This record gives sequence, C-alpha cells and structure tokens, in this order.
Amino acid sequence: MKAVIVRSSGDLAVVDAPEPVPGPGQVLVDVDAIGVGYVDVMVRRGEYAYFPGAGSVPGLEVVGRVTTVGPNVPEAPAGQRVLALPAFGGYAEKVVADADRVFPAPPGTDAADVVTLGVNALVAEGALHRAGAAAGERVLVRGAGGGIGVLATQIAHSRGAEVTVVTSSPARGERLRALGAARVVDRTGSALPGETYDVVVDTVAGPDLGKHLELLRPNGRYVLCGAAGGSPGPEAFAPLLSHFHASPTLYAFSLNSLSPRTSAPPGRGS
Ligand SMILES: NC(=O)c1ccc[n+]([C@@H]2O[C@H](COP(=O)([O-])OP(=O)(O)OC[C@H]3O[C@@H](n4cnc5c(N)ncnc54)[C@H](OP(=O)(O)O)[C@@H]3O)[C@@H](O)[C@H]2O)c1
Repeated sequence: MKAVIVRSSGDLAVVDAPEPVPGPGQVLVDVDAIGVGYVDVMVRRGEYAYFPGAGSVPGLEVVGRVTTVGPNVPEAPAGQRVLALPAFGGYAEKVVADADRVFPAPPGTDAADVVTLGVNALVAEGALHRAGAAAGERVLVRGAGGGIGVLATQIAHSRGAEVTVVTSSPARGERLRALGAARVVDRTGSALPGETYDVVVDTVAGPDLGKHLELLRPNGRYVLCGAAGGSPGPEAFAPLLSHFHASPTLYAFSLNSLSPRTSAPPGRGS
C-alpha cells in the first residue's frame, strides 16, 4: 500500500509500506479521508513526544470502511463505515485501530465532513463535560478559531451557555459570532476581557495561561485540553493557590486517556 512518512526535515514523502495486520481487539480500515489538526503540525516540527519519530506514518484520525476484524473483537464492525482513531498510521491507504476507538459514521455523510468533526468534536465535548458547563453559565474559549475551539463554541452555545471567544483574527471572530459566540476578544490586543467566567476551555496554554486562570469566577473550572501556544511553565498555575478562597478547579483533558466509545470522561458532568 501507499503511505506517507515524516522525514527528519519535517517534510512528507509517499512510500510503499506493508499492509498492517490487525492484532487482538483491532480492526483494519480502508482509509477515505484523514483529519489534520495542530497535532500534525507538532509531529512535523518534532515537538510531539508520543510520535515514534522520523520515518513513521502520522495520522490520528481517519474515516473509512472496516475490511478486516482481528481476534477478540466482540461486536465486529466488519464492512461498516467508521471514524477511527488509530495510534498514528492514518496517512495511509490502510490503518489498524483499536476496535473501542472506532465509531460508526452516520449513513449518507461525507467522509471529509465526518473526519472534520472527529477529534475536534470529541475533545470539545469531553472538555465541556469534564467541566460540567451548564446552561446559563459563562464560558470562555481560548484558541476558538481552531478546530477544537470552533466545536467548543458551538456545543457550549447550543447547550445554553454564554460564550466568549478569544482569537487573533477579526474574520474568524465574525464567523464565531455567527456560530453563537456572544463576545469576541482579540488576543493580539493588550487587554484581557474585564469579565469572569464559570468555565474556561483552553486549547492554547502558553505563557498567558495564568492570566486566564485569574478570570475564573468562584467555583470556576478551567479545562486545559491543548497547548498550541506552547508550555505555560509552572508559575502559570500560581493563581490556583492565590485564589484558593474561590475554590478554582483545574482539569486536564486528553482523548488518549480514555476509550471515548465506552467511557464518559469522569468529572462534574458525569
Ligand atoms: N486534548 C486532546 O485530546 C487533544 C486532541 C487533539 C489536539 N489537541 C491539542 O489541542 C490544541 C489545538 O488543536 P486544534 O487542532 O484545535 O488546533 P488549530 O486548529 O490549529 O487551532 C489552534 C488555534 O489556537 C490559536 N493559537 C495558535 N497559536 C497560538 C498562540 N501562540 N497563542 C494563542 N493562541 C494561539 C489559533 O487561533 P487564533 O489565531 O484564531 O487565535 C489557532 O486557530 C493543540 O495543542 C493540539 O495538540 C488536544
């Protein structure tokens, strides 16, 4: 089969590769569409610690059809069109994934549409669930112009939260308003919003994380689910102690830590 590898320079190259064989609890998927997110940028820059390294095949989300089912898969999804979350290997004609990280694709949907929602929607939903974001609460989304941020904005708004978004782009801000954001904050400006929030969904981290922790209301919840802005450094978490009297909660949320098909993420929303 054909596959795409990352070279040590970060460039991609198409190569011939052996077809993977599903092991126990795994399925083989014929790939129709792959998802590309910020993780893929980090992989190519050599910044993603979990990627095996140069010469390996990236790709953590695909849509395609299950062609082979390995041993010990209780509910065999043979022949089904699915969204699959492999542990890399997705930039290829075929990829293996654990059967409990494979979801049926709705009939009649376009493969590219399904994979666009894929990880973005699972992380956005998981983060909001973990924080227990509720109707009527004020939610701030950092990195709102990105894949996860757009979905977090839409899901929080659809559940009745009042959503403020942070973005660097006026055009993305207008688009986010159309998708339900009540307020848009320009992250390139000097001032942070002079408001406080019940929930912050943060896909950016970086040196400004601490300033955003300061924006939590009493009993507020901060969900860190990405680091597009880099590492925050330990001092960024100081507001958790200086605001101890207000009982702030910091959650981290990664899809890697759970089997999204079978386990709801534990948290306030359980
Ligand atoms: N938790 C999980 O399981 C999980 C799963 C997949 C990905 N992730 C992580 O989540 C993060 C976002 O992923 P994504 O695919 O949504 O990324 P994306 O589509 O590239 O969007 C990231 C957004 O962050 C903003 N941003 C980028 N650099 C920034 C900086 N230095 N300071 C402030 N804002 C910045 C940008 O928005 P504006 O320019 O509009 O401000 C950009 O649109 C990544 O770190 C990724 O690794 C986590």
